[in-house]
Amino acid sequence: MSDVVAGGAKSMEELVSLCKRRGFIFPASEIYGGLNGFWDYGPLGAQLKKNLADRWWRDMTLTPPVRDGKPVSIVGVDSSIIQNPRVWEASGHVGGFSDPMVDCKESKQRYRADKIFLVGFFSLDQAKELYASLEDAVALLEKAPDASLEERAEIQRLFQTWRAEYSQRAANLGLPAIIVSEQGDSAEEAVAAAQRRLSKRQLKHLGVNFTPPGWAHPLVSAPEKWPRLSPATQTESLTAPRDFNLMFQTYVGATASEDDKAYLRPETAQGIFLNFANIVDTTRVRVPFGIAQIGKAFRNEVTPRNFIFRSREFEQMEMEFFCHKDEARGWLDFWVEERRRWWMGVGLSEANMIVRKHDDDELAHYAKAGAGTYDIEYRWPFTHPGFGELEGVAHRGNFDLSQHEQHSGKKIAYFDQERNERYLPDVIEPAAGLTRGVLALLCEAFTPDESRASKVVMKFHPSMAPIKAAVYPLVNKDGMPEVGEKLVGDLRRRFGHLGLIEYDAKQSIGKRYARMDEAGCPVCFTIDGQTLEDQTVTCRDRDTLAQERISLDRVVDWLGEKIGG
Ligand code: GAP
Repeated sequence: MSDVVAGGAKSMEELVSLCKRRGFIFPASEIYGGLNGFWDYGPLGAQLKKNLADRWWRDMTLTPPVRDGKPVSIVGVDSSIIQNPRVWEASGHVGGFSDPMVDCKESKQRYRADKIFLVGFFSLDQAKELYASLEDAVALLEKAPDASLEERAEIQRLFQTWRAEYSQRAANLGLPAIIVSEQGDSAEEAVAAAQRRLSKRQLKHLGVNFTPPGWAHPLVSAPEKWPRLSPATQTESLTAPRDFNLMFQTYVGATASEDDKAYLRPETAQGIFLNFANIVDTTRVRVPFGIAQIGKAFRNEVTPRNFIFRSREFEQMEMEFFCHKDEARGWLDFWVEERRRWWMGVGLSEANMIVRKHDDDELAHYAKAGAGTYDIEYRWPFTHPGFGELEGVAHRGNFDLSQHEQHSGKKIAYFDQERNERYLPDVIEPAAGLTRGVLALLCEAFTPDESRASKVVMKFHPSMAPIKAAVYPLVNKDGMPEVGEKLVGDLRRRFGHLGLIEYDAKQSIGKRYARMDEAGCPVCFTIDGQTLEDQTVTCRDRDTLAQERISLDRVVDWLGEKIGG
């Protein structure tokens, strides 16, 4: 895989442009000017997404992981996107799934209130003292890719201490946020100085966010103290913050009255809880076991951004693992490590991932009662050198099942024959974004290379590559196309369920190779004059650019060894 850590961040702008140019991802309804937060997947993007989803489904339900020598028991479901609206009252989403939002009355811009800065100043001495310890933390964070588990824990501890200290100092000053000024300089200079030193992610660890430049705030809230100064107009024109529910609403049936209101699911998880009793009753699964689901989720995000990282329509791969509460801690640790390794198996480098435990005040409403939530974070180009969430692994306690039992009035409790005990199992939930995972694969694969005609090569793990191989007759005549078409047929029969086999007999061979470098195709087979004489083809390796000749009748097995399957 590409070495992302050395050097600076990759360019998101170039990645987005490649995705469009090569047909990975397009803005949705582009010819009408697009729609913020919505994306369409082109031929290569759709196949890449399918490869990732298929691998997850396989590794969860068909060949699940093994613990203590035994395969873990997991079954799959595919539930409805629209459910009875009472589901979302029970799950807490109607009441609690919201972001604080403010509007600028003049510019009509809308902001997440927790993204608006209030700037406070420390004296130079205080600032020096703060920065001195901060540097220790930053030095450690820079080491994070190679850090041992103990060192990672230390990094986390340092940041937690920092966060608490910042919040306390802010509270003492009566401010909902602070920015450290090094020389008592202007707010802009203070922000710029802090930004030079710290990535957004590091600042977030400290409880400070940066959006847009020049404005900041911590996660501590004191609504009456929220700033009114609008970043758009620089006048006091912001409304007070109010909660904005992220669920999309629709109406079921013809009358469109309040009684017919329904919601598009904001997570796939609830469809699993709703079917817990059905699955226990109709299959042979016994606690501990998991239910897995892949599907669309919808959130009316206030600020969709960073390409497909935070969109309003996206896909999730969620698994709810039901276990006895005494075993929940062990399963939580098991799944955190299992999921981290899984992402490495699809090509993310270890150095670009970090496991972070949530602070208590970050926990979602359902995770409060549990033993904690961990995020598996990736080093995105827009968080570099810091990290941002790729997947959450939460201990949800028995919050959801007990809520559904109460709200529906139906008995859901499970009878454990071995323990001779009836209970609502605890839940460990590895919840990954499928579309966010696609973005991670794209970011990891993106490798600028000035020496190539394409200037960039997408180094996908061969098992994820949307195009598995390309077959290229050197010229579109002299019997070469016939050999090529036969080879394509053979390869599609064997590998067609894993990805695309490209065939193209036109254009210069250099241009065709460049196209495949940008598409991330691991190997190109070229048929030339020599093929007709000795039945051999050239195999061009995407990563090493090495070219070797092998005989035509070995091509299928050769590719099988390279890409698996
Ligand atoms: N059932 C738990 C749950 O939904 P979450 O952390 O809100 O937890 C799980 O979502 C994963 O879904 C995230 O780690 C992220 O990968 C993905 N995700 C969440 N919101 C998203 C959005 N607006 N756009 C793309 N992916 C998103």
